[in-house]
Amino acid sequence: MSNINNSEYDKADFQGVYQGKTLIDSAEIKVVPWDIGKAQPAISKVFDDEKPGKLLDVGCGLGQNAQAAAQKGFRVTAIDSSSAAIERCKKSITEDINFLVANALATQLEEKFDIILDSALYHAIPTNERVTYLKEMFRIAHAETKFHIITFAPEKYGMPLPLAIQLSEICSNAEISGWSVTSVSRVEYKGNAAAIADFCKKKNLEIFLDDEGFTRLPCWHVTLKVRG
Ligand SMILES: C[S@@+](CC[C@H](N)C(=O)[O-])C[C@H]1O[C@@H](n2cnc3c(N)ncnc32)[C@H](O)[C@@H]1O
Repeated sequence: MSNINNSEYDKADFQGVYQGKTLIDSAEIKVVPWDIGKAQPAISKVFDDEKPGKLLDVGCGLGQNAQAAAQKGFRVTAIDSSSAAIERCKKSITEDINFLVANALATQLEEKFDIILDSALYHAIPTNERVTYLKEMFRIAHAETKFHIITFAPEKYGMPLPLAIQLSEICSNAEISGWSVTSVSRVEYKGNAAAIADFCKKKNLEIFLDDEGFTRLPCWHVTLKVRG
């Protein structure tokens, strides 16, 4: 893994935010912004549309997406580099899920998965490590694997660059790593509005909220398959 950090987002303290510390230095984000107490609606739709199989939730956070997958009949392995996140998953989730502390860049996993789910991990991987990440996912894929990536898209009422990512970057990194892009659509990623209030103020961001008071963060939903 390279030590070169390109932006403040590349230095985000994920382990820290699960322990009440701030996620980034330039704003106070001390509550987990992606904790909405349930699965992401856009991810639940993926589970509705996919045939249940062996699923890897990579960068699983607090495990609500993994839990929803298990409830839909998927056989789930869920990994996160934060031991604090994985401890919380193991304590709070009773479904039969293989929760593991692992780095998405070098998972040590030896099995192949039918579905790989990246819910807001891609933009959390430092820019110069994304190809390594996608190649690692390729290593644990088989010819029919479907890889779903949901990641911040640049938009006026969304996350700022470089946290939000140009579609061309995602597609070229995917191609370099052995994947083909099979679809691209726009979805909303929900989050905790209070958690990012100081961040929005400091960055002068206007973010819309939904009826439940969750942030509506514009994202790409890119699906990939192994290039034949
Ligand atoms: C934005 S959060 C999304 C969490 C979850 N997927 C969700 O949608 O609620 C990104 C997660 O990726 C994890 N993460 C960051 N870098 C990672 C890496 N290299 N390997 C595995 N997990 C990582 C963080 O600890 C964090 O839990």
